[in-house]
Amino acid sequence: MKHIIDLANLSKEEFNEIYDLSVDMMENADKYSKSLEGKILASLFFEPSTRTSLSFTTAMYRLGGKVIGFSDPGASSVSKGESLKDTIVIASQYADLIVMRNPYEGSALAASLYSECPVINAGDGGHLHPTQTLTDLITIKRYLGRINTFKIGLCGDLKYGRTVHSLIKSLSKYKGVEFVLISPVELRVPTYITNLMDELNINYEVCENLDEAIPSLDVLYMTRIQRERFDDIYEYNRLKDVYVLTTETLKAAKKELLILHPLPRVDEIAFEVDDDERALYFKQAKCGMYGRMALMYKLLKEHEKTASEKISNNTEKACSNPKCITRVEKYLPKLGQNSCTYCEKALKDEK
Ligand code: NCD
Repeated sequence: MKHIIDLANLSKEEFNEIYDLSVDMMENADKYSKSLEGKILASLFFEPSTRTSLSFTTAMYRLGGKVIGFSDPGASSVSKGESLKDTIVIASQYADLIVMRNPYEGSALAASLYSECPVINAGDGGHLHPTQTLTDLITIKRYLGRINTFKIGLCGDLKYGRTVHSLIKSLSKYKGVEFVLISPVELRVPTYITNLMDELNINYEVCENLDEAIPSLDVLYMTRIQRERFDDIYEYNRLKDVYVLTTETLKAAKKELLILHPLPRVDEIAFEVDDDERALYFKQAKCGMYGRMALMYKLLKEHEKTASEKISNNTEKACSNPKCITRVEKYLPKLGQNSCTYCEKALKDEK
């Protein structure tokens, strides 16, 4: 476990260790309050964040470590045209651990190629968000009592919602998890995700109607429509209010349903739902802080500073995804077989 780029790379045993550690940290906070004393986290947010960045910062402080970094790339050398590579090489010499959020898909993997310390992906464009998935898995395990054999409905923007992509990839490793993918036709999950589910023989349904789906669900994962990822604002306005979870909708749901949301919420969960005891999204955010504490603790305790591996091209093909990091950072090695190693979208022959 050197870098955390995609949570699906974590084995079940590694997840269980992190889960147990996060529960111990919840219950015995004092025991850990100096455990990362002397360690420095570089928090590099090239895209806005409230929860994730505050959660990492608080997590580091609660373990006795310190935090450097930026949350406004306009205030860093990136605005002078500095490459991702140079930013990362430098930050990894100052800090013991890097947490990065960047709008380009595959940017976290790209950063890990040049970092001398572990890199944690805090969101790479619309691609993945592994520490949100860690948060989600910890919450499900804590409140459902297991992370296998249940039915989860994912509702909203399944196309651009990176938390959805990460969560499906990770849950696909557990037995008996059934998925209901609830979205407008325009916002369905990318095909690389459904291809993966098909390959693994995962049981999933695709539907557009939340009211029809809700009665059979054990977990409902609501997401906002991701305005910043739309190329066409009219399309966003047309789709933004398509799902609103209300107390009325919940009448048809199971009594033990877990209602999750990675937050921020826009209008997709009515405020009246907050008082329903099935609404777990605020508790989920707290689980996320302990999960991040456990993850950083484990990464730093395990890590010996080693030079990053030298990686060179293994394909001549270019990525077809205009939002892939390889489109802007041209020095990156070209990697992949049928799909791009950075963002998982299809490769294409160069003209
Ligand atoms: C999510 C994200 O950034 O992708 N938020 C988060 O990390 N808490 C979800 C979102 O922005 O909708």
